[in-house]
Parts: sequence; C-alpha cells; structure tokens
Amino acid sequence: MKPEFIRNFSIIAHIDHGKSTLADQLLLKSGAITTREFQEQLLDDLDVERERGITVKARAVAIDYNYNGETYQLNFIDTPGHVDFHYEVSRSLAACEGALLVVDAFQGVQAQTVANAYAAIEADLEIIPVVNKIDLPVTRIDEVLEEVENIIGLDSSEAIQVSAKQGIGIEDCIEAIIKKIPAPKGNPEAPLKALVFDSKYDPFRGVVTYVRIVEGTLRKGDRIRFMRKKSVQDANEIGQFRPNMTACQSLGPGQAGYIITGEKVVGNISVGDTVTLQGEQAADPLPGYKSPKQMVYCGMYPIDSKDFEKLRDELERMSLNDASFSFIPETSDALGFGFRCGFLGMLHMEIIQQRLEREADVGLIQTAPNVTYELKLKSGEVVKLDNPADVPDSGQIEEFREPIARVTFILPASNIGSVMQLCADRRGEYKNTEYLGTDRAQLSYELPLAEIIYDMHDKLKSITRGYGTMDYEVIGFRDSDLVKLDILVKGMLVEALAQVVHRSTSERRGRATVKKLKEEIPKHQFEVALQAAIGARVIARETISALRKNVTAKCYGGDITRKRKLLEKQKEGKKRMKQFGQVEIPQKAFLSVLEAG
Ligand code: GTP
Repeated sequence: MKPEFIRNFSIIAHIDHGKSTLADQLLLKSGAITTREFQEQLLDDLDVERERGITVKARAVAIDYNYNGETYQLNFIDTPGHVDFHYEVSRSLAACEGALLVVDAFQGVQAQTVANAYAAIEADLEIIPVVNKIDLPVTRIDEVLEEVENIIGLDSSEAIQVSAKQGIGIEDCIEAIIKKIPAPKGNPEAPLKALVFDSKYDPFRGVVTYVRIVEGTLRKGDRIRFMRKKSVQDANEIGQFRPNMTACQSLGPGQAGYIITGEKVVGNISVGDTVTLQGEQAADPLPGYKSPKQMVYCGMYPIDSKDFEKLRDELERMSLNDASFSFIPETSDALGFGFRCGFLGMLHMEIIQQRLEREADVGLIQTAPNVTYELKLKSGEVVKLDNPADVPDSGQIEEFREPIARVTFILPASNIGSVMQLCADRRGEYKNTEYLGTDRAQLSYELPLAEIIYDMHDKLKSITRGYGTMDYEVIGFRDSDLVKLDILVKGMLVEALAQVVHRSTSERRGRATVKKLKEEIPKHQFEVALQAAIGARVIARETISALRKNVTAKCYGGDITRKRKLLEKQKEGKKRMKQFGQVEIPQKAFLSVLEAG
C-alpha cells in the first residue's frame, strides 16, 4: 500500500468522554464490524477493562475506507485514558501522525484532556478537536469550543461535532482524518526500520509483537533482527488487526501490524526496540521509549504458603503482558514468603489484583500500598526504598526523600476554596490559579505523591460533586520530615502494617490506625493489645477485649442448617486471615491502615 493512502491516528480523551464508542463507530462505518458487535464495545477485550469501562492496553486496528474513489487505510492506535497509564499513551502516540481529541459536549475540557493534548503536541501530532455527545439533552457546545481554543490552543473552527453513540458526524470525522492528518513518510525501498510499540502473549501462538513500519518493507518469512536485544528470528506470520488478526504478505512504511516469530517469552521482546532485516540492516535503531516508572508498591503474600510457586507463576504471566508491572520475592517474619510488586499507580494495582483473584485462584494477603522513597544515608550512599519495613534506624538517615507530583485540577470556581483546603491538609504547595471562563478554573499544586495516590481523586469528586478532575505527574524527590510508624499486635511487631508518615501527622495516624485495626481484627479467646510506635516510643494503644461466647451459641441448638451456615461463613472469613503468633489478622486489616488518614 502506498504511504499516501495511509493515515495513522490515535483518539485521546478524558476518561468517559467517548473514545471507545467513537472508535467502534469508525469500525462500524468502514464495515469492519457489524452493528451487533458495535454494541459490545469491541476494542476493550480484557475482562477487567470491560467491567470497569476503561481502556488499559494500547491496540492497533486497520480500517479500509473508500473516499473519492480511493481506498484509504486508517490505522487506529488506541490509547488508555487514565492518569496511571501516561506511559502507554505517549508510547502509542509515537506510532501516529495525528490524533482526534475527543471532548464531551457537556463536561468540556477536563484535566486529562489537557494532559493528553499536551502529550500529542509534544509528539508533534496533527490534532483534530472532536466535540462528542452532541445528542445529550443539555450541552454547552459553544463554551466547550471556546475551552478548546483557550485552554489547549487549537483552532475551534476546525472542530467536528459528533454523536458517537448515534453515529452522527462520523463521516466528517473520517474525512478530517484523511484530509488533515499527514500521510506517513518513509521509503519502501530503504532498509527496514519498524518500531515495536507493544507486545502480548497469546497462549496458542506465542508472542505477538506490535510494530509500526517506519522505513522499508517487511515481508512474510523475512529473517528479522531486533536491534537492541540483538536477537534474530523469522517473521513466520505478519498481519494486521482488522480488528481480528488477519495475515498478509507484506507491510510497508506507515503501516501498523503484528509479527509472530514463534518466540515464547514476552520478556525477550522489548517495547521501543527496532526491527530490521538480518540481510540488509538499518544503520541505527529508532529512538526508543523511556521505561515506565513504578511509583506504587505493595506486598502480595499467599494465605497458604503452599501457594507460593503458583503465585509466582501467575505474577510472571501477568508481567508478560505488562512491562510496567514488576515483582521480586520478599520475606516477612509475619507473612512468610511473598512478593513485593511495583505498579504505575493505584488503578494499575487494583487491575492486577483483580485479574490475579479472577484468573489465578490463589488466596492473597495484600499489604497497604506505599510510594517509593529515596534515602540519603549518613554514609553518603543514596538508596531507593519501596518497603516501609526496610527503613533503617533513624540514626543512619541523613535525608528521607519522598516523591513530589505536580497536580493540576480543573474545577468549578466555586469549589476552589475547599480544594485548596484539601491540598493544604495534605502538605500541598500552592502554585497558581488560572480562570478558564467565568465559572471554571485550573488550579496547580505540588503535593507529595503519598498524599494523592490513595483517595485524592475520590475526595475531589465528592467536594466538586463530580465536576472536578485532576491529573498529576511526578517531578522529583524532596527531603521531608518522615518517620516509620510501627504497629505491634499483642507485643509483636507486624512489619506488613508499618507505614512511612510525616512526623506532623504521625500521632494522628497512629491513633487512627490502631482504632481501625480494633474494628477489623476479630475478638480472640484472650485480650489483644494494639500499639502504634515510633522507634521505641509508643504513641497510641487500643485493646481488643477477650471473646466470651461461642458464635453458634445464639442459635439455641435448634436449627442445624443455620448453625452450619454460620460455621461455613466463619470458615470463609478465615480463608482471608493470617496467623500472627496467636492472633489472626484478616486481609482487610492490612488495607485499613490506608483508611486511617
Ligand atoms: P475510557 O475507555 O474509560 O477512557 O472511556 P471512553 O472515553 O472510551 O468512553 P466510552 O466510549 O466508554 O463512553 C463513555 C460513556 O459515554 C458510555 O456510557 C457511552 O455510552 C457514552 N457515550 C459515548 N458517546 C456518546 C454520545 O455520543 N452520546 C451519548 N449520549 N453518550 C455517549
């Protein structure tokens, strides 16, 4: 296919503004899917995604479209919309020449609209603004157009108005893609250079490598070389997603598709690598990607230690498809053998955890998540720390640094005061306010990452009744007055409950944590003391009184089925408990330290 008839584009949007629906409409209009399939939100094929309505993994789908008597090939590269997945967004954008920027006709420009638009501008893409959901009973189309112009700096007269749901304006959208987005450059005769922008594991066919051809031509059967990994393989099958995998004979400049070589280990294919021909090699590889930064960590332990190997296999399987997830074995006195896992953010963590529970059938104890810290020791050494249990003695620490994020809020002007209060409570440093029209504003802060990852988003939503949005980016580490807060259960230190907190909030956190644990840990036959301590100093204490009655006692001995049910229920509860000395601590208690803010 001649490059002049190819267009590579992404759709970028704030979450829920209709990116997936628009993508499906494009497939529908080009005949790639049927109306019935359209209704099933075809591009999100991970179970978890469909359930949560978010797009996580980047996809690449080729669509043929007849326009003015010519057949154009439109390659749609999907991007995820959530802040946790910035990395995937920028990586997908590198494979395109243009992007549709979808904005909801009522909600208007939101924090991630801005963040994604900037990423596209940085990648030098042609951006076409699309105002979606014009069918809604109440819209603010004119104001939204103004926002597109004022906040993002795009010419709003170029904007296309559509209803992805009802299929209005879709042809205009495709026409704009063909007319405005530049055709890919690249010489089909040059030595092959193809960018690896994703890979996934298929249990039947091995690793499927997603590539975008930048220069040259890739043919079925070619002997190919991965330039960075320096591995040589055969392109046994090449093809495109239409949207199902469809084999073809060759891929030329500008085309996106897949390669199957028979490789079985996803780790052997690295995203950002360049594929060339073994026979005629390109002189140098394409610029790659920055590797993703894991910012949130937690421990995952099997409840039953027999499941350790099984859990390892499952984590390995997860990491095969997700380079941004990592895990290393760790041991804890209390929890035994398990793994410390790293994630891009909280949503990423929840998704992996859900997939493990669903697909793996391993009972898990998960510790409260924490961010990565950086320690400068008195010895001069600088070390990264991703487990609060590993904080060295305070005498050894010169600087205790935590990650700081630049946070941008877009919110109704009437909520500015409350959001500023929220940020002040969380050690935020005010940067500036910009008004975006009469009743909306953009507020910028620098905040410790630890203060935002857990519930900042929920708090913002409740303060602004859903109208506020936020986006953040980690900008570096800063020295702070941090301490390790230990928790002792019946005199025993439970490392998995340790937290790193700011000294100014440590007493409050300590009190709230033991109080919360008191609610979560069931009564035992004996008294259980709960203590919070910094170093040797105990700062809070609660006591769980001893249990007196048998749970089944209140069944009056009469109804045996009821009694059995009660015992079953108790057993079910036990599955998620872990024994510490004589005390059983349920899974929920490990996460409760988070809620003790
Ligand atoms: P993520 O994948 O989570 O980033 O969301 P998205 O941007 O892909 O949004 P999605 O396409 O899933 O749409 C979000 C919601 O908006 C869904 O409930 C859609 O049915 C609805 N929606 C999308 N387009 C339109 C439209 O044109 N009109 C109306 N009324 N609703 C729409």
